[in-house]
Amino acid sequence: MTASQPKTVLPTSNDRNHIPAVYDRLAAVGEILDRLSCRSVFLVADPVAYEGSGAKRVLTPSLASRHVVVFREFRPNPCLESLKQGIESYQAAQADVILAVGGGTAIDLAKLIGYSAAQAADPADVIATLPSNPRKGLPLIVAPTTAGTGSEATHFAVVYKDGRKHSVAHPYLLPEHAIVDASLTETMPPNITAQSGLDALCQAIESMWSVHSTPASVDDATESIRLAWRHLNAAVHHPSKEDRRAMCRAAHLAGRAINISKTTAPHAISYTITSQFSVPHGRAVALTLGAVLAFNAGVSESECADPRGPAHVGKTINDIVRLLGFETARDAERGIQSFVASLDCPTRLSEVGVTTDSQIEEIAGSVNVERLANNPRRLTGTSLRAILKSIR
Ligand SMILES: [Fe+2]
Repeated sequence: MTASQPKTVLPTSNDRNHIPAVYDRLAAVGEILDRLSCRSVFLVADPVAYEGSGAKRVLTPSLASRHVVVFREFRPNPCLESLKQGIESYQAAQADVILAVGGGTAIDLAKLIGYSAAQAADPADVIATLPSNPRKGLPLIVAPTTAGTGSEATHFAVVYKDGRKHSVAHPYLLPEHAIVDASLTETMPPNITAQSGLDALCQAIESMWSVHSTPASVDDATESIRLAWRHLNAAVHHPSKEDRRAMCRAAHLAGRAINISKTTAPHAISYTITSQFSVPHGRAVALTLGAVLAFNAGVSESECADPRGPAHVGKTINDIVRLLGFETARDAERGIQSFVASLDCPTRLSEVGVTTDSQIEEIAGSVNVERLANNPRRLTGTSLRAILKSIR
């Protein structure tokens, strides 16, 4: 930065629903550390992306004068063992601040390390049952290196224990600062850009129709859908800086939106497709998005789970259909499937190895009921199987 350039005013975290994001200036991490009078940093860094994204090069000057302990011994999909190792390393570090640089795994681990350590309890207990009088952990700064999960903007974190997915939710898991710098995503390969971007698009669309949506979450989700629908294909196949920036904003806004509304049926159905059929999260969620949209469009009074009623749900689905540039829900369903296919991602269950009735039963029988309850049209076992068979 030259002397003539004004210094960016860093936002303050005074609204716990809206995490203040700094866009496209990773170097702002140094200013935040200065403001926090930070002398010691616990850095949770993605083993590949911390260097590969260019984050290390930008952050080194800000970290050089501080004591830094790096935790990077973990694999994709955070597990309890990694969390325990992270807490051990964190406790030895005696840090002032936690900094996470990476994708959803690094960010979720950083959230859970700070939160679990602050409770001074076994992390297995902390993820199983929320403490009755929880304590706040150290300030958390996050810089995502993918454009997808929006984890930097949510108060949720995922951890796997014995192969089972646990979602922990608490306001103290929401980071204090998010630095969303699109330059960190420039080295993402097309397949990761596609599946991360689809996660963001699904989160935004699900947020729109969630029974917990609010005017604020709808505003964020609307802008997220606009950006992702316009820029994701280019970001995958021939990305410009503008496409990368747009997708980073789309992912962050979708994160803010689901921080309020939570996700719905496509996410609820996806977890077994991911764990049993090894389909990456964004691809697994996108598989059912179009079919669930068409299903939700047919909501009636008796099946409506949203207290605002079927007319409200119908209008919301119509808003989504129009946002995507279609006239009817059926057209939007087909349009979503063409869009997903254009990203070289699967649109049929048979493409990921789900072909038999017993496999459909396995997915239908292990759906996440908590996420399913956020869907505006109630799903019975029969309707769930019908959706799955329609995309077999
Ligand atoms: Fe997701």
